[in-house]
Amino acid sequence: MRPVPAGVGPGQAQVVVLFGATGDLSRRKLLPGLFQLVTAGFIPGCRIIGVSLDDIDADGFRAIALDALRQFSSRAVNDADWAHFAGMLDYVALGAGPDALRGSVARAELALGGDSRRVHYLSVPPNAALPAVRLLAEAGLVERSRIIMEKPFGTDLESAVLLNARLHEVFAEDQIFRIDHFLGKEPAQNILAFRFGNGLFEPIWNRNFIDHVQIDVPETLGLGRRAGFYEQTGAYRDMVVTHLFQILAFMAMEPPTALEPAPISEEKNKVFRSMVAIDPRNVVRGQYTSYRTEDGVDPESDTETFIALKCLIDNWRWAGVPFFLRTGKRLAEGQRIISIAFREPPKSMFPAGSGVGAQGPDHLTFDLADASRMSLSFYGKRPGPGMRLDKLSLQFAMHDTGLVGEVLEAYERLILDAMRGDHTLFTTAEGIERLWDVSKPLLEAPPPVRLYEPGSWGPKSIHQLIAPHAWRLPFERVWRGGTTVTG
Ligand code: BG6
Repeated sequence: MRPVPAGVGPGQAQVVVLFGATGDLSRRKLLPGLFQLVTAGFIPGCRIIGVSLDDIDADGFRAIALDALRQFSSRAVNDADWAHFAGMLDYVALGAGPDALRGSVARAELALGGDSRRVHYLSVPPNAALPAVRLLAEAGLVERSRIIMEKPFGTDLESAVLLNARLHEVFAEDQIFRIDHFLGKEPAQNILAFRFGNGLFEPIWNRNFIDHVQIDVPETLGLGRRAGFYEQTGAYRDMVVTHLFQILAFMAMEPPTALEPAPISEEKNKVFRSMVAIDPRNVVRGQYTSYRTEDGVDPESDTETFIALKCLIDNWRWAGVPFFLRTGKRLAEGQRIISIAFREPPKSMFPAGSGVGAQGPDHLTFDLADASRMSLSFYGKRPGPGMRLDKLSLQFAMHDTGLVGEVLEAYERLILDAMRGDHTLFTTAEGIERLWDVSKPLLEAPPPVRLYEPGSWGPKSIHQLIAPHAWRLPFERVWRGGTTVTG
């Protein structure tokens, strides 16, 4: 076990009540993440109580957890670490009611001794969130606790306001951690470091120098076992109103007065307040051709599995700069990029045919993969006689730091932050309500879904949406030393 730097983990032992413990997210991310945090010594003491509809006992839950770790843990699971972790697990079926849950938490707290804290993690569908909150209240588990909520936080403005009001009847806002795992990704935090840790970029981070921005998150994945969830959610609610808008806020916000939760939320919320309501004419909704025949999908479903849109932020920094967002399932490549296109020079003195401008504008590109990369592309002279210009690039890869092994997976980072009571990378009720508000015209009058072939980049009309610009993806050139491609 490597030494854990002081102040990184919570000071107190933690009892985690994990709702949706046998579900997809829990198996893929939460159980492997908790295993990693415990095994690396980040948490001074821990007990995890799984809760779900499944009628299993603690051993049944342990078997599910072991299977999940074997399948999804990014680190090897040795017998000693597993035995240690397995001893921390307990299970309460939802049907057993508040007394059973209270009893299990009491036993866990007794075993930990001293002054422990509670973390309730709601990894459940939207309609199960409030019943879980009520169960926690009935079980008397609100004190000394924090609650981590998964999106979607409502499905429109009214439901979000109602959800927040009901939530606030039980938990105070400072106990609530609305998780958006994109903000836990190392490269998302690096946007803040890059923008505000350097004097070089911030002076050009505005409408005078930036032509447009793309936040592009195509996925090759399909629905997996999530048809039920996805049918009610769709790409806009699943990805845009959550992850992509949060990333947009990090890109677009003013420098906060301090790198602390309140000043950061204030600046992000100002971006959301300045966003122009989404005009359905600036939106392309798509559905891949075989979607309606999948298990659990309505044969006449209007749910979009793809969405591309143009957003505008009407403030001094960004007025007139379009932000193009795109995401979808079963697309040609899995990528997560932010690409900033700079304005082109006002006049070219280079001879015709020299190649200047021929490969698009200069770009700054962030790859949001866990082992992230950045690239700054520009025109430079091709070596040799005459004056021919080529697109060149400066590139940074996190691999170059030799510290890739230190990266915490997004959920690990955020669970640890919530245990420490640090809201910096979490979203607020106000921000979320505003995002539903700007979404209103789209939700009320969504354009019809257009079909696209699995393995493509979406419906054809995405090109009209972005014209006269072009989508950066697919990239034209290869990242240095990498498998993917950039420009
Ligand atoms: C989740 C969405 O929040 O994010 C999924 O519900 C999506 O549909 C996933 O696939 C993408 O996350 P990541 O970290 O794999 O890019």
